[in-house]
Amino acid sequence: MNVRSEMLNLIRHRKDGYSLPQPFYVDQAFFDVDLDLIWYRDWLFAGHDCELLKPGSYFTLQVGAYPIVVLRDRDGTIRAFHNSCRHRGSRVCSADRGVVAKLVCPYHQWTYNLDGSLAFARQMGEGFDPTQHSLKPVACESVAGYIFVCLADEPPAFAPFDDLMRPYFAPHNLTDAKIAFQSTIIEKGNWKLVWENNRECYHCAGSHPELCKTYSESPNVTGVAGGGEDPEMAEHWARCEAAGLPAQFRMHDSGQFRAIRAPLLRDAESYTMNGRRAVARGLSDAVDAQRIGALMLFNYPTTWNHVLIDHAVTFRVMPISPNETAVTTKWLVHKDAVEGVDYDLDTLTHVWTQTNDQDRRIVEENALGIRSPAYEPGPYSQLHEGGVIQFVDWYTRTIESRLDGAGREPIRRVA
Ligand code: FES
Ligand SMILES: [Fe+2]
Repeated sequence: MNVRSEMLNLIRHRKDGYSLPQPFYVDQAFFDVDLDLIWYRDWLFAGHDCELLKPGSYFTLQVGAYPIVVLRDRDGTIRAFHNSCRHRGSRVCSADRGVVAKLVCPYHQWTYNLDGSLAFARQMGEGFDPTQHSLKPVACESVAGYIFVCLADEPPAFAPFDDLMRPYFAPHNLTDAKIAFQSTIIEKGNWKLVWENNRECYHCAGSHPELCKTYSESPNVTGVAGGGEDPEMAEHWARCEAAGLPAQFRMHDSGQFRAIRAPLLRDAESYTMNGRRAVARGLSDAVDAQRIGALMLFNYPTTWNHVLIDHAVTFRVMPISPNETAVTTKWLVHKDAVEGVDYDLDTLTHVWTQTNDQDRRIVEENALGIRSPAYEPGPYSQLHEGGVIQFVDWYTRTIESRLDGAGREPIRRVA
């Protein structure tokens, strides 16, 4: 049986409400299909507009086999390109980030304009046509301060996500924020384990003493079933919406992305040890409401987010191998907030630095246990793990439909 048939067979015979069979979490061939059918087809969160302040600012990222560079063009447009030189294929940008007038390949100095066109290639002789050797573009969209890229030749529509997310996020003015701090950790576990862990707070009380000071473990907060029947949520939504901040639970029909605003415990304002703001200067001058709690967004497969009154914490998930996932966290504050004056970096980052490390250990233990030949899929808690059930349903439904639809297409090999 080839891997695609095996995957389809396992999906069709899996028990609803149970974790996935072992190969989904550990197997290289299954991982390659995940890359092919999800990571190379869907919109992926790459970074923030505010990381590309000036024309010529760029950052790089790696998605599976694809190095990508994202930059701001001369006219201010954000663009993405395959970071592979059209001469002999070298990566053109090897740094994580930088600012350049033009992109110069380090190998033989082919030089590209910021729109990807080839400006200069030394002594290539007559008959060489530079117009045929532009950097290859990658689809790129920016919404409310978030840059997304898509590797597909024909990307799915971006508008449904834009429509859902923009009204919630635009008031927070993240386009104009700055990154106060960022970290990337490698979790030794499959990307789906990282998501499964993120989509429930069944584990929070036992693992996250710092986060639990302000963040509710209520399934209404973490879950995906709305929560409007909960009077506290209903009151919170009504109050935020009266202040012009969309708040109600909203999820796209596909189950791929969802936004919701939730109260923090005991009217805390921020993810700090005492619940008070970590940043004296508010994140957005356009928001003057009190007790807005946390605006939360997920978009499978790359990002979950929390926007608070004083800062935002954004997360990017990137698969590295069947057993390794990079999680990048960024703390965004008002662009004029000054470290040491308006905020103390340790206070700002403490709770999520601890929480990330605790989650890393959880994911790694989960991955080690799943590698046991004795592992078999186990039941999710219907009460506390509705979010995990929803994620796994989205994953299996997506893979199943694309395996069906893609049966005739060859798989691109991933080295
Ligand atoms: S590979 Fe880029 S200039 Fe030769
Ligand atoms: Fe956690």
